[in-house]
Amino acid sequence: MRRAIYPGSFDPVTNGHLDIIERGCKLFDEIIIAILVNPEKQPFFSKEERREMLAEVLTEIDRGSCEVRVDSFQGLLVSYAVARKADAIVRGIRAISDYEYELQMALMNRRLEPSIETVFMMPAESYSYVSSRLVKEVFLLGGVLDGLVPPLVEARMKRKIAPG
Ligand code: PNS
Repeated sequence: MRRAIYPGSFDPVTNGHLDIIERGCKLFDEIIIAILVNPEKQPFFSKEERREMLAEVLTEIDRGSCEVRVDSFQGLLVSYAVARKADAIVRGIRAISDYEYELQMALMNRRLEPSIETVFMMPAESYSYVSSRLVKEVFLLGGVLDGLVPPLVEARMKRKIAPG
């Protein structure tokens, strides 16, 4: 029984995240998607909204026999991973530019908790430039999000900024 944590801000979940979850399902029996609650940052979506959207869009992807759950955490990721008895942390790497920061985090996490491995996974090339940050920027400037996020997420983003 192999359990992985897939941590992130997921503000909002993108098709790139879903692609990584599908790929992770081929390697792990269980994946816990762990939403970071950062009290110092003002997110676009609340923790509850992000959790709801993730739970909904997860039903639309190919999970095989993998159990996928959504949770949230605060504080050190490795402490959370140990508490959840996880074997690994999954992170998506899109380009070399992601690698430096991800390597630093993975090595720091290993120093803090040597029993947890970090597994880097590559999303499909078509998602190699997709990030939650750019999705929000494009959306707020009136751009089209087709193919970048699930339709449900785009609808929730529109509702979020709708007057009244
Ligand atoms: O989706 P993101 O914002 O790139 O995810 C970053 C995340 C949540 C993986 C990272 O910020 C994190 O692990 N935060 C928890 C605090 C922590 O453990 N810090 C030490 C990491 S070396």
